[in-house]
Amino acid sequence: MEPINVGVIGAGGISRIHLHTLSTLPGVRLLAIADVALEKAQERAQQFNIPHVFGDHRELLAMDEIAAVHVCTFNQAHRAPTVDALHAGKHVMVEKPMAATLADATAMVRAAKETGKLLNCALKTRYSDDIMAAKRIIESGELGEIYYAETVADRRRGIPGGSFVRQESAGIGATADIGVYALDTALHLMGHPTPVSVSGIITDVIGKTHEPPLTPGWRWKAEDLTVEELGIAWVRFANGAVLVFKTTWAMHMDTLGGAFFLGPKAGLRLTPEFKVFRDQWGCLVDIAPQAKPTPDVELFRREIEDFYNAIREGRPAPINPMGVLLTNVIIDGVIASAKAGGAETPVTVPAF
Ligand SMILES: NC(=O)c1ccc[n+]([C@@H]2O[C@H](COP(=O)([O-])OP(=O)(O)OC[C@H]3O[C@@H](n4cnc5c(N)ncnc54)[C@H](O)[C@@H]3O)[C@@H](O)[C@H]2O)c1
Repeated sequence: MEPINVGVIGAGGISRIHLHTLSTLPGVRLLAIADVALEKAQERAQQFNIPHVFGDHRELLAMDEIAAVHVCTFNQAHRAPTVDALHAGKHVMVEKPMAATLADATAMVRAAKETGKLLNCALKTRYSDDIMAAKRIIESGELGEIYYAETVADRRRGIPGGSFVRQESAGIGATADIGVYALDTALHLMGHPTPVSVSGIITDVIGKTHEPPLTPGWRWKAEDLTVEELGIAWVRFANGAVLVFKTTWAMHMDTLGGAFFLGPKAGLRLTPEFKVFRDQWGCLVDIAPQAKPTPDVELFRREIEDFYNAIREGRPAPINPMGVLLTNVIIDGVIASAKAGGAETPVTVPAF
């Protein structure tokens, strides 16, 4: 099997896991890495034995032998390398969130449609055993059509630092950083209904007033925090369903609750414990499927392997970018609604 040549754009924290996975995956060859901070790319190249190193992603994209790239830049820098890569004829795996804004995500999806190349957003949670089991249960018709759901991604005190908390690099805070996993999971399990309006709030009250670290590893600076630490929203869909979406990097609480899905025939709770609730044999029945969240390293291996198998087999992107686009529609809606004092704000899914 001829290996697929791969380039990585962005040599920061998350690139290490992509590079580790790629360097151990059969059928791919790591050929080049680029970062605007050239020394970071050089360091990674040395660590992972990558022959070509660039300070500009366009130089990497000029290499004809490269067939696929991983975009591992911070959120505000997802759009340009992704659009350029697709137009250069490369398949793209882009880190989550797909983009900092709906406008960026739309440009990326448009480029994928124009070029016919795969655009796959790294949403590793789709490959978790519990979420895959929940999807099978829901697809079997066990719940019926979901009419209400809640989805949560939270940390009691876990505001990241660096590029994650600055508007100019992240563009958006917890709502897109950890929130996108919760939102994508809910939309995936609900079958990607069309969002029509969002009522939301955002805050930065803990990050602006409390000093790190109370928990190891989270070392933000209050003056750097220019994105929201919390986003909470009520999302309405065209099919009448409602989703409550709650996410925060910091709070004076142990949890914002769990993720669950209500249907007319049964309910499914995903977190904190995986359970299905229904009536059977004339009584209330709780079923506990034995499927747990999968560890991160395995999630990365599964999602990256699936991406390369899709390229080889001529399949579409395993994670349909049109579905991921809905996360950007809702996240933009949360910010717009919060700016309007939490008013119910109409949202529109771009047409292509
Ligand atoms: N899947 C996961 O588990 C996971 C975990 C952490 C981060 N992420 C995502 O990965 C992305 C990067 O996160 P990180 O922790 O590596 O951030 P980081 O700040 O450590 O690294 C980002 C890198 O991108 C480089 N960069 C910026 N613009 C560039 C450009 N135009 N061309 C080339 N390089 C450019 C920066 O110089 C930096 O080295 C973010 O979107 C984040 O949300 C995903």
